Amino acid sequence: MKAIVQDTYGSSDVLHLRDIDKPVAGEGQVLLRVHATALHIGDWHLMTGMPYLLRLGFGWRGPKTSVRGMDVSGRVEAVGKGVTRFQPGDEVFGTCDGALAEYACAREDKLLHKPSNLSFEQAAAVPTSAATALQALRDQGQVQPGQKVLIIGAAGGVGLFAVQLAKAFGAHVTGVCSTTKVELVRSIGADDVIDYTRQDFTEMGPRYDLILDTAGNRELPLLRRALTPKGTLVIVGGEGGGRWFGGLDRQLRVLMLAPFVSHRLRLLVALARKEDLEVLKELIEAGKVMPVIDRTFPLSEGRGAVRYLEGGHARGKIVVTSAAA
Ligand SMILES: NC(=O)c1ccc[n+]([C@@H]2O[C@H](COP(=O)([O-])OP(=O)(O)OC[C@H]3O[C@@H](n4cnc5c(N)ncnc54)[C@H](OP(=O)(O)O)[C@@H]3O)[C@@H](O)[C@H]2O)c1
Repeated sequence: MKAIVQDTYGSSDVLHLRDIDKPVAGEGQVLLRVHATALHIGDWHLMTGMPYLLRLGFGWRGPKTSVRGMDVSGRVEAVGKGVTRFQPGDEVFGTCDGALAEYACAREDKLLHKPSNLSFEQAAAVPTSAATALQALRDQGQVQPGQKVLIIGAAGGVGLFAVQLAKAFGAHVTGVCSTTKVELVRSIGADDVIDYTRQDFTEMGPRYDLILDTAGNRELPLLRRALTPKGTLVIVGGEGGGRWFGGLDRQLRVLMLAPFVSHRLRLLVALARKEDLEVLKELIEAGKVMPVIDRTFPLSEGRGAVRYLEGGHARGKIVVTSAAA
């Protein structure tokens, strides 16, 4: 089968389209004929091996597994021993390893049947980014109806889901993005949109009960200035920081400061959980949340897709479709 393969860490130049062996479903696993894979920044981190901290788990000198891609949709080709929820032909979505390929194996408990109202491309765009937004708002943010919520990075992969989810939870939502994305953020339901190139929300007074920061390029004291006295700040991400810890630097500073301030300061380590995918599927089928896709690339142009991701200014999700689809 064809796959996008890397032998070493590095820029997108390390990615090559190659023929490799088709995987075989092990116990509790499902073999998928991949239709689509959506990229996110986690794929980029694993490709580059940066920050270094992640190499402790994924291979010090080079990646232990050579095919990237986690968020997937496809059709079940075969099931391994002990799999009870799926059978060949089922249309599914979820997370796995090695999804930038024509076939991939996923654990049964990381998959659900595809939402009836989504294409394969749209379904692949959901798992990690939407689950991150859900866990940030509901679990760390403890969002309540009527609260004023600010989503920084509202037109990004996580942000576009966060805006829609916060609306679904009954909040009044303000999105922060750059000029060309203002209409997009408004179109998915934001009550207000702040163009960060023209207005600085940190100068506008304490007005938000909950802030989700996915952009990571403002200092904590500035962000706290925009919070109501008992407001909550959830640090979701940000790509700054050093070579060893990356964005984790900032997360650690939040942890250390949290006990000493009146604001609730929270960080997030998003997990791929079937229960959350079920919540998201329900909201999607109810028409309350829809993925936004910026561009779709064929698998043969997987390297180009990762380059586009590297730019950091996509309008929603970047999807790669498999040649086998
Ligand atoms: N904690 C976790 O478990 C977890 C899970 C998933 C992701 N993350 C992290 O979350 C972050 C966002 O991920 P993503 O997939 O949404 O990335 P993304 O699609 O690249 O979105 C990032 C967004 O940040 C915006 N941005 C850049 N500078 C900004 C500024 N000064 N003010 C406001 N917005 C700004 C960009 O918008 P413009 O183009 O308009 O500038 C872009 O839309 C990443 O750092 C990722 O590592 C963390």
